[in-house]
Amino acid sequence: MRTRAISEEWLRNLNETGEQLNLADNIPQLNEVIRKQAQPLFNGSRFQLYTLDNEKQKLIGIIDTENNRDNPLVELPLTRHDSLPVWCAVNKRSLLINDIEVQTENYNDDTIANDISRPSGSIACCPLLTDNSVYGIITIQNSQKNYFERLDALCLETLCRMASSAISKINLTEQTKQSVVELEKARTLLVESERMAALGQLTAGIAHEIKNPLNFVNNFSELTIELAGELSQALDKLNNQLKTEDKTYLDEIAGDIYSNALKINEHGKRADSIIKGMLLHARGQHAELLPTDINALLAEYVNLGYHGMRAQDPGFNIKIESEYDQTIAMINAIPQNLSRVFLNLINNACYSTNKKKIELKDTYFPVLTIKTKNMTADIEIRIRDNGFGIPQSVMEKVFNPFFTTKPPGQGTGLGLSLSYDIIAKEHHGTMRVESVEGEYAEFIITIPKNLK
Ligand SMILES: Nc1ncnc2c1ncn2[C@@H]1O[C@H](COP(=O)(O)OP(=O)(O)OP(=O)(O)O)[C@@H](O)[C@H]1O
Ligand SMILES: [Mg+2]
Repeated sequence: MRTRAISEEWLRNLNETGEQLNLADNIPQLNEVIRKQAQPLFNGSRFQLYTLDNEKQKLIGIIDTENNRDNPLVELPLTRHDSLPVWCAVNKRSLLINDIEVQTENYNDDTIANDISRPSGSIACCPLLTDNSVYGIITIQNSQKNYFERLDALCLETLCRMASSAISKINLTEQTKQSVVELEKARTLLVESERMAALGQLTAGIAHEIKNPLNFVNNFSELTIELAGELSQALDKLNNQLKTEDKTYLDEIAGDIYSNALKINEHGKRADSIIKGMLLHARGQHAELLPTDINALLAEYVNLGYHGMRAQDPGFNIKIESEYDQTIAMINAIPQNLSRVFLNLINNACYSTNKKKIELKDTYFPVLTIKTKNMTADIEIRIRDNGFGIPQSVMEKVFNPFFTTKPPGQGTGLGLSLSYDIIAKEHHGTMRVESVEGEYAEFIITIPKNLK
């Protein structure tokens, strides 16, 4: 293109190019508009687009065409002082040289004046600037001297300005999208932590309020058990003075009072242990980190869990397969809390396998698999059972406080949520579960080795 070729149609095309650049949603689209629409505006000259890679400190060739033929793309290090596009990028200025051999001294720059590697002819370069930083360079070149006029350079500058504002818009949109994502993440985190804090306070509050009346229930039910026993003994002493039917009636009432009080006491104690769990959960424990032999602790609590289960149900049995990584050295942990995690997981595993055994009888044998592994920064603990596993619909809820699928009275649903807190908050570790329903459930814990 030469200025004398600027026509009404050319200006319309430039205008159209500006609009298309503005419509580009991302950089590849923008480059495509430059290739398809901007480059033909300068037909007849070599057209190049470079983008600046700040990390590599290089101009990277994106487009290089001449008479509809693509030239191989090149990269120009910013240290290459013999390159005009590099000069343009470093100085953030456009240039027009109509006779490369004689005109470079006008640029008052030794590197250009002394450059001998450039082909003769005419060249115009213009930087694409966004927020005063260089995004890239567009150059037009012709082998003829005095090919470009001042107006050509102005047209190139206009195109570059249009492209620059389109790039700024794309960057801004990207940043806005990113900020919206970050904001949404922060909001979710905030809501979650507020919810947990509120839940913790509420739990502590409720538990505390219930504890006093519950103490009355438990103490008075114990007294009533004793009194009902004494009443029965007193009635026995009055045996001769009462009519048989009255005696039977009174004995029945005393017996009912006794068994009712026993039930009240039993369930009161159960409620008491739930309340204790809630308080423990809400209070959060601030125990000390101690050098801990994880393998030994785990083995001890697997054993304890197993015997605990056998004590409740002597018919229960489970095969324990273990693989302890002996290269694990002592690591800093809170052993008394970690042991609660192990016990919770073993209890859950035993519960699930026991249930499956009762259902499937001789066709099934419960297996508990315990593994530890020494990893680069963490140690990994896997506790797996071949029980009923966890249905997909339940998976996301298992770590929620009070979530339980056990029948009323058998589980508080606090085991896993407490364990999660102990691992994540106290040990800065991770805890997750993998399961195939009907086949297995595996809890995977990682604990960093260098806890301080
Ligand atoms: N090994 C497992 N196999 C199958 N389901 C499991 C297993 N571990 C946990 N679950 C599911 O996750 C739920 C929550 O477990 P969690 O230990 O928190 O409470 P819980 O065992 O029901 O009650 P608690 O531990 O307070 O006695 C369980 O009710 C059960 O549905
Ligand atoms: Mg449990």
